[in-house]
Parts: sequence; C-alpha cells; structure tokens
Amino acid sequence: MTALHLWLRHEVRSTERRTPIVPDDAGRLVASGVDLTVEESPQRIFPTQEYEAAGARIVPAGSWVSAPRDAVILGLKELPGRPRELVHRHVFFGHAYKRQPGAADLLGRFAAGRGALLDLEYLVDDEGRRLAAFGFWAGYLGAALAVLQHRGRLTAPLRPTGKEELDETLRAAPGDEDFTALVVGALGRSGRGARAAFVTAGVEPTCWDLAETRDLDRRALLEHDVMVNAVLATSPVPPFLREADLDDPARRLRTLSDVTCDVGSPLNVLPVYDRTTEWTEPVRRLRKEPPLDLIAIDNLPSLLPRESSTDFSAALTPQLLDFGTGGPWGRCLDRFHRACRELGVTEGESGRA
Ligand SMILES: NC(=O)c1ccc[n+]([C@@H]2O[C@H](COP(=O)([O-])OP(=O)(O)OC[C@H]3O[C@@H](n4cnc5c(N)ncnc54)[C@H](O)[C@@H]3O)[C@@H](O)[C@H]2O)c1
Repeated sequence: MTALHLWLRHEVRSTERRTPIVPDDAGRLVASGVDLTVEESPQRIFPTQEYEAAGARIVPAGSWVSAPRDAVILGLKELPGRPRELVHRHVFFGHAYKRQPGAADLLGRFAAGRGALLDLEYLVDDEGRRLAAFGFWAGYLGAALAVLQHRGRLTAPLRPTGKEELDETLRAAPGDEDFTALVVGALGRSGRGARAAFVTAGVEPTCWDLAETRDLDRRALLEHDVMVNAVLATSPVPPFLREADLDDPARRLRTLSDVTCDVGSPLNVLPVYDRTTEWTEPVRRLRKEPPLDLIAIDNLPSLLPRESSTDFSAALTPQLLDFGTGGPWGRCLDRFHRACRELGVTEGESGRA
C-alpha cells in the first residue's frame, strides 16, 4: 500500500490561527509512515519549526496548488478563489452541503478539476457521530463572552487568547453580582463547553436539551439573565424566541449568545436577528429598554487557537492514520457525491479516494 501523502496548508483567513494537526501529532503521523508536507504559515499558532522538528517537509504557503496529484490537502476553512479547478482531494470544512452561499461554485470547482471534498463536518462513525469537532470550545467561548458582556467587561476587538488568561477574566471579581444563566443544547459538545465556562465564572446554569424544549416554556426562558444557544437542530422546531418575546415586559433576559448561528436557515431557532456579529464588533443591541445584547460569532474556537487545535488534532489524527476508501472517509466521499447531485453539479470522473 502506498503511504498517505498529507499536505497541511496555510489558512487564507488572516484571523484563523488554528490548525487541524498540531506538531506532536505531526510527529505521530510521520512515525507511522505518513509522508507529511507542511506549508509555512505566519499566523498558525504553532511555529513551523516545530513541524520541521517532527519530521515534516516544509514548503511555502499556498504551494498546495502544485502538490502531486495524489497528495491529500488538509486545512480547516475556505480555499482561495484560485485555481478554479481543484484537482486534489481536500479535507476541510467546506460549508457547502446545506446550500450555503457559494456552495455550487465550490463543488463545481471540484467537479471541473476531478478532485473531491472530504468535508470534516461529515467525518462520522458508524452511528453518524462526528469524529472531530470544535464544539466544546465554541460553547466555552460563547458562554465566556456572554459572561464578560453581562458584567460590562467585554472589550472589542476580540483577540485570540489562551485558556488560563481567559479564565482569569472569567472568575468573578468583587462587585460582580450573581446572575442566572440558561444553556440550551446543554448535553451536546458546545453545551458542555458553555456549562464549563459558566462554572468557571461561578455561575451554575440551568440546562435544557431536547426534553426541556419539547413543550417550550418561553416565560421560563425569559426569566434568565443570560442565555446561550448551543443546539444542533436537524429538523425545524418552533423558535425559542420570537420578536414579540423580546418586547415582553416580564423579560429579564439581557444577554443572548448564539453559538449555533443558524441565521437565515429554516432550522434557525432564534429568528430575532438577521446577521452574525464579528470580532471587531462582537455585540449588537437588539432592544434598548430594557437592553438586550446579542453575541453571534461564527468562528468562536479561533479565539482559543491552541486549546481548540490540540483537541481537534487529537481526534483527527487516528482517522488520518486510518485514511482509506472505506469507513468514515468512504462515507465522506459518498456525501460529497450526493451533495454534487443535490446541487445539480455534474461530475466527471471525480472523487478519487
Ligand atoms: N459559533 C461557532 O464558532 C461554532 C463552532 C462549532 C460549532 N458550532 C455550532 O454549534 C452547534 C452545536 O454543535 P455541537 O457540536 O455542540 O452539536 P452536538 O450535536 O454535540 O450537540 C447539540 C445538542 O443540541 C441538542 N438539541 C437539538 N435540538 C434541540 C432542541 N430543539 N432543543 C434542545 N436541544 C436540542 C441535542 O440534543 C444535542 O445535545 C451546531 O449548530 C454547530 O454548527 C458553532
């Protein structure tokens, strides 16, 4: 069997400091016979030298475009707009299978180049459970930012940090009055992260998951000062909040942190805002009196790049060691073909795996 040639690319988004493979795991891959190439990347949280020391071959940023055709190109977020035709197998989060903006264009580029997208969001075990995800840290940060905002201590623009530093700011300082918090989707990865951040902040949150929202009590929801939404909706459910609820005179809710960020989707459980917030302006006021602040940032784990990369890499590395045509990777490829069909993208003989 030929060794896997894995090519870790530089991320084009300048605020993206995470990586799917950390240097320690790069060493494990090399020791197991993986041919590992790593692109230089000034913003990656781990220095390139650490990959070199782990036995990887170092190449310039963006040179994947001329990588051998059998190389599997690994990244996290979007590809640059060029080249138009994608000839390789790419592993990253394509955000293209739910008809997101640009989905048909991206899949069309793969079809034109006869490459394939092995989307990390669809790398699942036999029971459909995600094998590598950033959810815990998304929830942790979603709750942490909500706590800081509620205590008047959130400063913009947001910057990547480390967990110790973040926790230091989260621990209640004298004068921080108590507040009540609600986590919805509390049993999931993000929900667990959100709970952990609240506990660090000295707050024991109310936890709701499917059972508690089946017969939704919006009044009870509005009685919390802070709410974090961490659900992964798979079919439409009645909204957790509607415009009219924000004007309910009994509303105590002041800070809403939407980790899910399904804005614009038919699955959105919080159809009370129309666009996400950004690192430069993380908070948007939805109501003036009494105030209601929204935090809806769609790349939360990038704010803790070291911790989130380390956990993600630990989950992904065993899958890469087992890279092949069957199992999770086979399912990923099938999902790619299905998405092409669903979006009307005509493939040639694409999708070698
Ligand atoms: N903002 C970000 O940066 C960021 C990063 C990663 C993930 N996410 C998003 O966070 C969401 C959660 O991801 P996850 O990895 O934690 O998913 P998960 O599958 O681990 O957990 C989702 C939880 O939501 C619960 N749930 C589903 N429908 C519900 C409902 N109607 N009422 C109550 N609970 C419900 C599930 O039972 C589950 O416990 C996803 O939408 C994901 O895309 C956001």
